[in-house]
Amino acid sequence: MSSQMSSTAVLTWFDHSGRKSLPWQQDRNPYRVWISEIMLQQTQVATVIGYYETFMQRFPDVQSLAAAPLDDVLALWAGLGYYSRARNLHAAAKYVVEHFGGVFPKTVEDMCELPGIGRSTAGAVLSLGSNIRAPILDGNVKRVLCRVAGIRLYDDLRRNEQKLWLLADELTPTKRVADYNQAMMDIGATVCTRGTPNCGVCPFSQSCVAEAEQNFSVYPGSKPSKVLPEKSTRMLVLLNARHEVLLQQRPPSGIWGGLWVLPEVPELLSPGEFAEQFGQATDLRALEPLRHTFSHFHLDIHTYAGVMQGASSRIMDAPWRWQPMVELKAVGLPAPIQKLLKQIAAGA
Ligand code: ADE
Repeated sequence: MSSQMSSTAVLTWFDHSGRKSLPWQQDRNPYRVWISEIMLQQTQVATVIGYYETFMQRFPDVQSLAAAPLDDVLALWAGLGYYSRARNLHAAAKYVVEHFGGVFPKTVEDMCELPGIGRSTAGAVLSLGSNIRAPILDGNVKRVLCRVAGIRLYDDLRRNEQKLWLLADELTPTKRVADYNQAMMDIGATVCTRGTPNCGVCPFSQSCVAEAEQNFSVYPGSKPSKVLPEKSTRMLVLLNARHEVLLQQRPPSGIWGGLWVLPEVPELLSPGEFAEQFGQATDLRALEPLRHTFSHFHLDIHTYAGVMQGASSRIMDAPWRWQPMVELKAVGLPAPIQKLLKQIAAGA
């Protein structure tokens, strides 16, 4: 396959079928592209769009993001999950301001110094944001190239990743690199889908190993599944007479770092004993347990709900706060906690 030939076909495909009206494709600059790429790392386009618009209104440039308190960034991120992305975003914005004078780096190497930016994200930000030639290799693009070249990714992951990067680099044209990279992501997302790809409209049709073999499931193949360990935790939902809920802020690093969660019952105490520390709680009742799966473990959350007697529940300093149930949006809550509190607010 000649790389010139296929990049031309990809660009022609982009002209008639590529996505051109996504919010981060308007007023393009490295900052706007960077934020979109980080949001899109583990989240679908349809979900990202709303968060993206809100984020851009609040933090229109790298300076405003760097100057903001981390808490504000986490609050806007709440619900998107994978919060280390938001913490890295904030740290990277500060880094750009402090080390690069507020201007995004122009090479993959410098870009990869920023927290949360790997080679593919760097390539996307450089190409889509500044038209600098740099290959990308996100999950979608990997699937396309594995099929085109007939690579069973997991047979030899490290070597195959290297091969894929070489191939991605070879195929990347010198002109219209933004359109080309966007097209490759779009082809992965809309044509060369995981299940049944639509080879009839694909620019790689006729020069694709998987298509020739009509065998799509082995390229790239599935990731060997690992059994995730199970952990469990107990949390309190304490409401006071003002219809405020007691929240606790997690330490800055680790699971849900910096987010606000329901108070976690220490191992040696019963939920009732723990609740007593905050005042007099009545009717502590166990709710249906909730399972939340992180990338590396399952967490079973056992919750106990109770109502504090009287209006005078103790006022506490950080990392604690009584948060009005009608203003839950103002704090960064992990998605499962947000869901649980919404159910409680709705009287479930
Ligand atoms: N997923 C990752 N980056 C993307 C982009 N720029 N457009 C659409 N989907 C994407």
